[in-house]
Amino acid sequence: MQAVQGYIHQNKDRFLGELLDLLRIPSISADARYKEDVSRTADFVADSLRKAGCDKVDIYQTKGHPIVYGEHIIDANLPTVLVYGHYDVQPPDPLDLWDSPPFEPVIKKTEIHPDGAIFARGSCDDKGQMYMHVKAFESMLQTGSLSCNVKFMIEGEEEIGSNNLATFCNEYKDMLTCDVVLISDTSVIANDTPSITVGLRGLSYVEVEVTGPNKDLHSGVYGGAVANPLNVLCDMISSLKDENKHITIPGFYDDVIEVSAEERTAMNKAPFDLEEYKKALNVEATMGEKGYTVLEQTSIRPTLEINGMWGGYIGEGAKTVLPSKAFAKISMRLVPNQNSDKITALFKNHFESIAPKGVKVEVRPHHGGEAAVTPSDTPEYKAAAMAMQTTYGKEPIPVRGGGSIPIVALFEKVLEVKTVLMGFGLDSDDIHSPNEHYGLFNYFKGIETIPYFFDNYSKLKK
Ligand code: BES
Ligand code: MN
Ligand code: MN
Repeated sequence: MQAVQGYIHQNKDRFLGELLDLLRIPSISADARYKEDVSRTADFVADSLRKAGCDKVDIYQTKGHPIVYGEHIIDANLPTVLVYGHYDVQPPDPLDLWDSPPFEPVIKKTEIHPDGAIFARGSCDDKGQMYMHVKAFESMLQTGSLSCNVKFMIEGEEEIGSNNLATFCNEYKDMLTCDVVLISDTSVIANDTPSITVGLRGLSYVEVEVTGPNKDLHSGVYGGAVANPLNVLCDMISSLKDENKHITIPGFYDDVIEVSAEERTAMNKAPFDLEEYKKALNVEATMGEKGYTVLEQTSIRPTLEINGMWGGYIGEGAKTVLPSKAFAKISMRLVPNQNSDKITALFKNHFESIAPKGVKVEVRPHHGGEAAVTPSDTPEYKAAAMAMQTTYGKEPIPVRGGGSIPIVALFEKVLEVKTVLMGFGLDSDDIHSPNEHYGLFNYFKGIETIPYFFDNYSKLKK
């Protein structure tokens, strides 16, 4: 392990430079105008895998964006680790809230990142975290310390629901055979408090359209007599939660498994400072489902959030208009045992049923995905925990995360393997927000920790 750590140390500047090049390509999967750039990013990743020492690298075209696959098989008797990551990124909008252009990475020091952080879209989610694996692999290979077979599957559609990856996994099931999936696309509690994510929430994402009159109207001439779709949409959405912030859709909680009191007590022992939390977000109070702590509200409980809402006039100044249409994008985060298709159907039925006369309502499902639990009593969890213990000098805390990586549930179903979520970002790294960043400490800590995972895993798996 000395040799590999020495190699990492000697090559730090290059490892950073290569990541900055990767961050310069705007691989925005959601926006069709960036299709070429997304494709160029796949080429970059494939090239990196080849240079790092993968002996079989291929780019698989899909109906959407390409999937990059690479492998290095050293011995069929050794365990195989499948590394999954994504090279696509969220749209950087709103652009004017960025302090520097999202695809021109700069390194700046912050209070939380005194050694500096890379500011760029995708720096943390997930190019930076994915690339740690490429560099850790190179380092292990170059120093003769690779102890497992490695397969890489790096996709370009995670941020838009991984729709084509499911087909790919089914089709190439044999090629993807492995003992465990390793993913770095989550966070640690803090740089001095390592943690490993042991669960992710599922997701049901819908768009709703409310149509009132057949055209935009003068809000004075008609206002007061005709249903205003924006007003109606507000009423309808407000009714989806009661005064305790409990979701009112009939059947919504039917399949939710209540977490035991013991487990809740244990999870609330994780370091969390409510005052700090509020201060960092500049809010006077938090707001969530009654009877649950913030840690519980953001992990073991399902939620419903408006992600965007529009209609009428949103340009400069005031225009008096009673709009013909109103829209909203709504996400529901789900917990284990809830089914995203079922929840989407429950939402659709309920939302259509509460529409008042005078408007028409349409609910269009986007993507969905199931929650996942990744147990902490497996060789892979232990391998990750021991690796972090070595590099952080502290035992990591198991925590359930609030975000979603729907493909994790699919790996379990199709490939019949468990996943380890060994992420290195921080919740405060502003992923999906303006000024996303990733600490240099975190990037290099990841590269240093991954080889220990491989070493531990090959020993524990025997
Ligand atoms: N890496 C995130 C998920 C994440 C972030 C999990 C932080 C835990 C902690 C991933 O790229 C993501 O953003 N997923 C989407 C879901 C997807 C279907 C669009 C999400 O969670 O909104
Ligand atoms: Mn991600
Ligand atoms: Mn993301």
